[in-house]
Formats: sequence, C-alpha cells, structure tokens
Amino acid sequence: MENAKLRAKSITKSFESDRGERTLVIDGISMDIAEKEMVAVLGPSGCGKSTLMKILCGIQSATSGSVELDGVDYGRELPRSILRKFGFVFQGDNLLQWRTAEGNLRFILETMHLKGPQWRKRVDEMLEIVGLLQYRKVYPHELSGGMKQRVGIARALVHNPEILLMDQPFGALDAITRRMLTFETLNIWKETQKTIIMITNNVEEALLLASRVFIFSPLPARVLHEVAIDIPYEKRDGDVVSTPRFLELKKHLNELVRSTMAGGERS
Ligand SMILES: Nc1ncnc2c1ncn2[C@@H]1O[C@H](COP(=O)(O)OP(=O)(O)O)[C@@H](O)[C@H]1O
Ligand SMILES: [Mg+2]
Repeated sequence: MENAKLRAKSITKSFESDRGERTLVIDGISMDIAEKEMVAVLGPSGCGKSTLMKILCGIQSATSGSVELDGVDYGRELPRSILRKFGFVFQGDNLLQWRTAEGNLRFILETMHLKGPQWRKRVDEMLEIVGLLQYRKVYPHELSGGMKQRVGIARALVHNPEILLMDQPFGALDAITRRMLTFETLNIWKETQKTIIMITNNVEEALLLASRVFIFSPLPARVLHEVAIDIPYEKRDGDVVSTPRFLELKKHLNELVRSTMAGGERS
C-alpha cells in the first residue's frame, strides 16, 4: 500500500519474566492502514492484540521492527508527543466516577493543555455525536453500560485525534446494545473521517465495520489471514446482515477463525 497512514513493519515483541525467561508475544506482524480506513483485528484471547495496539501508538516499544506514521519511520517506539494523535476506547468504560460526562471529556483536554472556547465547544459536539448531549451533567453511575461506552467514545475523540484505537470496546455489553453501538461507530466514522483500528472477537461486528479484517494466530500473534470486505459502506445497515454476500463472508470468516483456533496454517 502506498501512502499508508499507519504501518507496522515486521514488529516483534517479547516480554522477560522476573526469572529472565523471554516469551514471544508478537511474531513479525506487518500491516498497513490507509488514511480514513477502518480495519478490524480478530484473534484469540491472549494472543497479543492489545500489546500490538500499545506498540502502534507508542505506549510500548517493539523488540524489533518499526512503526511508520504518515510516512515517517519511528523505529521501535513512537515518541511520546505523538500519543495525542491517537484516541482510545477500551472494554469497560474506565470513566472517572467523580466527574460528569462532560467532566470526563474535559479531563482529557486538561491533561493535554487544550484550552479555549473552541475546545469547550468540542466537548458539546462530541457528546452530541454520540447522542448524549442532554446527559452532559450526569455522573457515570447514573448511565447505562451502553451510554457509558458512548461517553468513552466521545472522550476518545475530544482532542481530535487522527487515529482511533478501539480495543474490544463493546465486549462487556449485551447483544442489542452492542449492535446499536456498532452502527453508531459506523456513523461516527463517516462523520469524523478518522482512521480506526478495532479489535473485536465478534465476526459480525468486524464485517459491519471493517474494509479489511486481519485474523491473528494464537500466541505469538502473527497475521494469518487478511480478508477484504467487499460490501460497500452505503449498503451496511440493519438489513445487510441477511444478504447473501454478508452471510457468505460471515461463514468464510467463521471458518478461518475456527481453523486458526485449531492451530491453522498460514494462508
Ligand atoms: N507487560 C507485560 N509483561 C509481561 N507479559 C505481558 C505484558 N503484557 C502482556 N503480556 C502477555 O502477553 C500476552 C498477550 O497479551 P495481550 O496483548 O493483552 O493479549 P490480547 O489483547 O490478545 O488478549 C499474554 O500472554 C500476556 O500475559
Ligand atoms: Mg486485549
């Protein structure tokens, strides 16, 4: 791919235990994400997905390989100053309980020293985007799980990052809320034009959101399959899940995931 927004180049990562034993967690991952693209990563639990995310945004350094952002190769570790180009949504909401919805968004702006009326306005705009403007003065304990996660999405966007990293963001939600937030994510992506990487354990979620799906192997993580999802975004709505192409891709991805868990071969 030419002009990738973000590129992982032969990333490996190993952790050393207290007793000096090394465990390889990521085994030579290369992947490209284009500007404004949304991709999904599917992989078994504990295979190294979150670790790769942390390397891609510079929270952790790679053992070898390099990360390229906007055409600049930063080697094994992105500089800390680049962290603000990223927004994060994690499983569980991680909201500050003693701050209101808008207070949680403001907290990010405060830590990043982003002041002024344009940023105050942005807090309202982002709460509006996730449909929670009227709840801005409400504390997390008064919100449902889905609403909390929406505050989490608004918070991830408030400093206007270029890339959104979503690490199993809807994993703790019930199926209906999860589906609703999947479509909201689609709308937010269309509206904000962010580059998005979404880790998920849900094949349908990946199919609804991603232009490409990367399937990782069990530990240590490798890219076993990369599947292009050729369903146009304008067709991705509540009805698409029962179309022949969607069902075909779903079957295909499920088979790949199953063979991956069974120690499948590289394709
Ligand atoms: N800081 C760390 N130190 C040592 N081992 C770690 C650390 N972070 C993750 N691991 C190990 O790396 C493996 C992959 O973890 P992780 O990236 O969280 O997996 P996933 O997100 O795919 O579930 C796990 O075996 C985990 O125990
Ligand atoms: Mg994880």
